[in-house]
Amino acid sequence: MSTTLITNIGELTTNVGSSGGDRFGTLVDAAVLIDGERIAWVGSAADAPDAGEIVDASGRAVIPGFVDSHSHLVFGGDRAAEFEARMAGQNYAAGGIRSTVAATRAASDDELRARLRGFLDEMLAQGTTTVEIKSGYGLSVEGEERLVRLAAEVTQEVTFLGAHVVPAEYADRADEYVGLVTGPMLDACAPHAKWIDVFCETGAFSVEQSRRVLEAGIAKGLLPRVHASQLGPGEGVGLAVELGAASVDHGTYLTDADVAALAASDTVLTLLPGVEFSTRQPYPDARRLIDAGVTVAIACDTNPGSSFTSSMSFCIALAVRDMGMTPAEAVWAATAGGALALRRDDVGVIAPGARADLVLLKSPTRIHLAYRPGVLLVEQVWKDGVAVFTAPGTPRGTESHGPVAR
Ligand code: NIG
Ligand code: FE
Repeated sequence: MSTTLITNIGELTTNVGSSGGDRFGTLVDAAVLIDGERIAWVGSAADAPDAGEIVDASGRAVIPGFVDSHSHLVFGGDRAAEFEARMAGQNYAAGGIRSTVAATRAASDDELRARLRGFLDEMLAQGTTTVEIKSGYGLSVEGEERLVRLAAEVTQEVTFLGAHVVPAEYADRADEYVGLVTGPMLDACAPHAKWIDVFCETGAFSVEQSRRVLEAGIAKGLLPRVHASQLGPGEGVGLAVELGAASVDHGTYLTDADVAALAASDTVLTLLPGVEFSTRQPYPDARRLIDAGVTVAIACDTNPGSSFTSSMSFCIALAVRDMGMTPAEAVWAATAGGALALRRDDVGVIAPGARADLVLLKSPTRIHLAYRPGVLLVEQVWKDGVAVFTAPGTPRGTESHGPVAR
């Protein structure tokens, strides 16, 4: 019998709203039955069906696998010196992307592939089971085609970001570069990608250029998402909403009009707390956004420039500590929110029929993800029903917890 029952779960986050209106759908003393790649049953441990394998959660918490809806994982080199200079007072600027373009162009496919797989292993061990990956460090037809092709080897959430920055060889010819992106580069990349993205920002692409990029991608069957309002207020959020983008990401500098437009739309705002952390920019006020009715996701934006963390729990801790989210909201944003930002309904929830992507924590509640920042709290991870990671050191079921205050 290829079934696994995870039982005696102290706190199960399903993200399936109950009739009582709790959209986080939390169950206590719960159990989950995995059958093959999918979840087959969710309910009270007392009513749990039998299974081929039994995992005793011993009162600990289980959450859906994290859905990291924004990353740039295919690149060469790193920019540690740039980070060090920033911590000494320098500002982050979009132009730093060009140094990673040079290092990426110099790397072989196998080097990029090994690096990419290393990041994915690192993410799995931290509970991330779905990852969106962008191109954007090739910036030539062959270079971008290579990055989306390598990304497509490891995820179905591939984003073509040829419009990341204007490469040095097109300096002062930005419109010509946009013609390349919307023409031959898009033709080469679209077969490997689901998404089209653009960095709509001063120093990258104007709102007119961004519109050209997104509309060309849409005409090719790609779905839009946008980087906007990272370095200052701009028109990128409005454009994203107008074009029905699944998500607009960053939102560090939002105007009241941006917030109203987002609240009235289906576009998710994906917050990237690791960026504010490692660029020393102000944290956006997630409390204001959620209270205004904006749907908020959290992602890591793993990249060598603005945010070189792959830890969702670190980003959750920042969102709670510095953006005003509750722990429950932050965990929802990093799971169900990420799924919405990728227009997926099969991940980010624990419900019959969903993919069996789950994380058993070492802690009795999800609150601990923010309450114990920097501590490795992931005990076991299942992806597509397969136990892909088990933390070393703690034999399962031997940790005991006293009474849990909820
Ligand atoms: O999402 N904003 C643009 N792109 C990345 C940064 C890329 C880099 O600095 O290399 C981001 O923050
Ligand atoms: Fe990004």
